[in-house]
Amino acid sequence: MASLGHEVVGVDVDADKVAALTSGQPPFFEPGLSELLVKGQDLGSLEFTTDVSRVADARIHFVCVGTPQKPGEFAADVTYVDAAVDSLVPHLTSTSVVVGKSTVPVGTAERLAAVLAPTGASVMWNPEFLREGHAVEDTLHPNRLVYGVADGAAGEQATAGLDEVYATMLDEETPRLVTDFATAELVKTAANSFLATKISFINAMAELCEASGADVTQLADAIGMDDRIGRKFLNAGLGFGGGCLPKDIRAFMARAGELGADQAVAFLREIDSINMRRRVRMVDIARDTLAGSFIGKKITVLGAAFKPNSDDVRDSPALAVARLIATQGGVVTVTDPQAIGNAAKAFPELNYAADASQALAGADAVLLLTEWQEYRDLNPVATASLVAGKVLIDGRNVLTPEVWRSAGWTYRALGRP
Ligand code: UGA
Repeated sequence: MASLGHEVVGVDVDADKVAALTSGQPPFFEPGLSELLVKGQDLGSLEFTTDVSRVADARIHFVCVGTPQKPGEFAADVTYVDAAVDSLVPHLTSTSVVVGKSTVPVGTAERLAAVLAPTGASVMWNPEFLREGHAVEDTLHPNRLVYGVADGAAGEQATAGLDEVYATMLDEETPRLVTDFATAELVKTAANSFLATKISFINAMAELCEASGADVTQLADAIGMDDRIGRKFLNAGLGFGGGCLPKDIRAFMARAGELGADQAVAFLREIDSINMRRRVRMVDIARDTLAGSFIGKKITVLGAAFKPNSDDVRDSPALAVARLIATQGGVVTVTDPQAIGNAAKAFPELNYAADASQALAGADAVLLLTEWQEYRDLNPVATASLVAGKVLIDGRNVLTPEVWRSAGWTYRALGRP
């Protein structure tokens, strides 16, 4: 927002994050973000603070806090959203617009509009569709803008305010859909549910490929050539993780249940199960290739983040597999270009190596679980000289089987012969 010419104040309750951001360091790895933080602060149009009263001059207030899964439940925890909105209340006037970006259960905006009514501020729900690892690009060049607004003057005021913020995007003819609160909230959960469904669909086909000897990557290429289906998000493998898709489909089921519409999204339970089964299948394949036991075997896991270009290890399929193998007696060493710090904090019981060559030294089997470019580029001949056993299991279907097999490797994958 600052790089687009707006004056921006970022508020967080966490003083360490504020200090890091002020020094130009995002508290997580995101390509291109650090440069923007420095640029915004050099321009004098971006500052970070823990002092919420600094928002008093602002017209537009974005609420961007997390809505994680509640421990032991499917539902989303919206307490951070509520706390952020409560902290704004003393600083709002009738010209203020509060814009929710967080992914919330449908009905939240309506509820918050009632909380904010005494201030005269208007409320809008403007869901966020950015992908980790592409956050800067997706934010500056979104493929659509969705505004959920109230009826009448309050909605018009909110729409006009946000149009000013997004003027450069609207100039680029980014489609803009203005709708009611509930639809805007549902757009986000429906979109993520659809993406999760697409991934689990192709992973279900991978199970059938495994049972029949077919190749899921060719199947995905062939069905993806039909424009109505499309090839994107049809990459079979270890399945989805992260802080969004898994918890969003669960929160959607929980909210649908509260609304008496649980049957409508009951299929998401199956989407979740297919996804979780891939992790177990990965472990089974690895154990099979090691003659039925991990005990005393050295296993190298390439990748800890839930996806490449991120250091996020929330619900990481790679770490779930690493932990399962460790509990079955394998000596697991994990490496990742960015996520080792976060992984070691979350799971100190695993071994970590600073880079791939250290992690590969003496391995009995190598598992490629997060498809960072440097792992896709591994040379089978050079890699063979580091390991003890030439066994590679490609959990993301990103390597060329013939290339590895002709270099003497036992190559296995999910959904491919
Ligand atoms: C997801 C959505 O893609 C964004 O549109 C949304 O804004 C975001 O959640 C959010 O709710 O904030 P993200 O979690 O960053 O974005 O990551 P994705 O690119 O969707 O990948 C999610 C998981 O699916 C990863 O673990 C990835 O490895 C896996 N995946 C993705 C597959 O297994 N196969 C695919 O074909 C694609």
